[in-house]
Amino acid sequence: MTALTLSTSGAATLRADALVVGIAKGPKGPVVAAGAEAVDKAFDGKLASVLETLGASGAEGEVTKLPAPAGVKTPLVLAVGLGALPEKDEVHAAESLRRAAGAAARALSGTKKAGFALPIESVEDAEAIAEGALLGAYAFTAYQDDKGDAKLPLAEVAVLGAKPRDKAFKAAAERAVAVAEEINRARDLVNTPPNDLYPESFAAVAQAAAKEHGLKIQVLDEKALVKGNYGGILGVGAGSAHGPRLVKISYTAGKGAKSLAFVGKGITYDSGGISLKPAGHNETMKCDMAGAAAVFAAVVAVARLGLKVNVTGWLALAENMPSGTATRPGDVLRMYSGKTVEVLNTDAEGRLVLADALARASEENPDAIVDVATLTGAMMVALGSRTFGIMGNDESFRTAIHEIAEEVGEQSWPMPMPAELRKGMNSETADIANMGERMGGGLVAGLFLQEFVGEDIAWAHLDIAGPAFHEAAPFGYTPKGGTGSSIRTLVKLAERTAAGDLG
Ligand code: BES
Ligand code: MN
Ligand code: ZN
Repeated sequence: MTALTLSTSGAATLRADALVVGIAKGPKGPVVAAGAEAVDKAFDGKLASVLETLGASGAEGEVTKLPAPAGVKTPLVLAVGLGALPEKDEVHAAESLRRAAGAAARALSGTKKAGFALPIESVEDAEAIAEGALLGAYAFTAYQDDKGDAKLPLAEVAVLGAKPRDKAFKAAAERAVAVAEEINRARDLVNTPPNDLYPESFAAVAQAAAKEHGLKIQVLDEKALVKGNYGGILGVGAGSAHGPRLVKISYTAGKGAKSLAFVGKGITYDSGGISLKPAGHNETMKCDMAGAAAVFAAVVAVARLGLKVNVTGWLALAENMPSGTATRPGDVLRMYSGKTVEVLNTDAEGRLVLADALARASEENPDAIVDVATLTGAMMVALGSRTFGIMGNDESFRTAIHEIAEEVGEQSWPMPMPAELRKGMNSETADIANMGERMGGGLVAGLFLQEFVGEDIAWAHLDIAGPAFHEAAPFGYTPKGGTGSSIRTLVKLAERTAAGDLG
């Protein structure tokens, strides 16, 4: 993992392999951002015009590498675009800094140490830069023996302009490290191929982390799931040679603290089951456990930060495969809650495992439940591939999560749960079917889940099918593959709850 330090060194005097400076997109060309004054001076005050000559504009994500002039100790200067020049009296948004730091860190893979001399106006800015750099310095190389140095992530990040001896800056740096390391751990889990990551091996990873961080953990294996009547999780896992698991991982802050339950969809591979997905739709389905990975990472991050809130993570793990023992379209499952579900499409499996986990989580009566799932293709059709949908049974809780997501730089949007869509799931044989109208498929899934949430518990459902797995070119701090979507939102929600800011 990339190391982080806060450095008191000046930008021009820092000893490192590269120095990152920011440039904004001004109306008449690039404008050198605060933090880079000494570097600009070493360029005789001509850094902006040198960059403009090279075609740089300051646009978001743009990266320009320059050999350093005399007077700058690093051999390389990297100018990264921050996007539009802020209006007078305004500053760059934290997310712009996070993305710029991430883009710079990505461009510096293969480098040992880089100083980040980006504009810092607050502790939050310093944290965003640290977080973006650590998230940008990520590579998944576990399956590449011949990786070569160029693929190794930037090894050391030094943030300049943050006060290393100031308590608030120190805490921000520690928070950035904990959150970024856990996000990168979740990315690793998502990227791990499904022949190596299956319910049992995922549970083993959780067990090791629980031991390391002093968390309580309970793993229900197939036998325990049968004994406990977890018909949804068992029904989805029935076709696989790798049996399903339900993992409960808890961080306890103590009596009197509020309690949150995070529930994650953990389909380690979604083939669709007997309702098999066609070629072209199953190549990335190792990502279908991204919700469980996010929940797991968030619980560990909360524990590392020692927040004053009790958080329990529920990982509903199963592999959805077709076989002679698989659940058939037409089968009826008796769920953990006692409700019966007619399975009309075995590819609508996420809601089945979540239903059991939501019902089980509800029994402990937490102050709120948030589930996270790569649940529907329909949500991607609605919101695109960078935005997750938020549904729920409590408007103010849903709004709070939307605002928190915005604050931490995650794109999300509130979605309705129109009651008239419920009748599409009416079943001739069972209490409910696992499929309804095609139109509004993401909302239908939300309505299904709601039936398994305990009454009077505030609940939100995050459908991260779009942003969980990034297939296009990397941007900012977002790599190809697993992204760690929603983890920053969950951790901030825990912080808000600990601070008593919510309900
Ligand atoms: N895991 C998929 C949803 C998904 C699709 C996630 C694409 C990420 C990218 C989910 O289990 C699924 O197959 N949903 C079906 C539901 C339908 C059968 C009612 C869908 O969205 O098509
Ligand atoms: Mn599916
Ligand atoms: Zn799925």
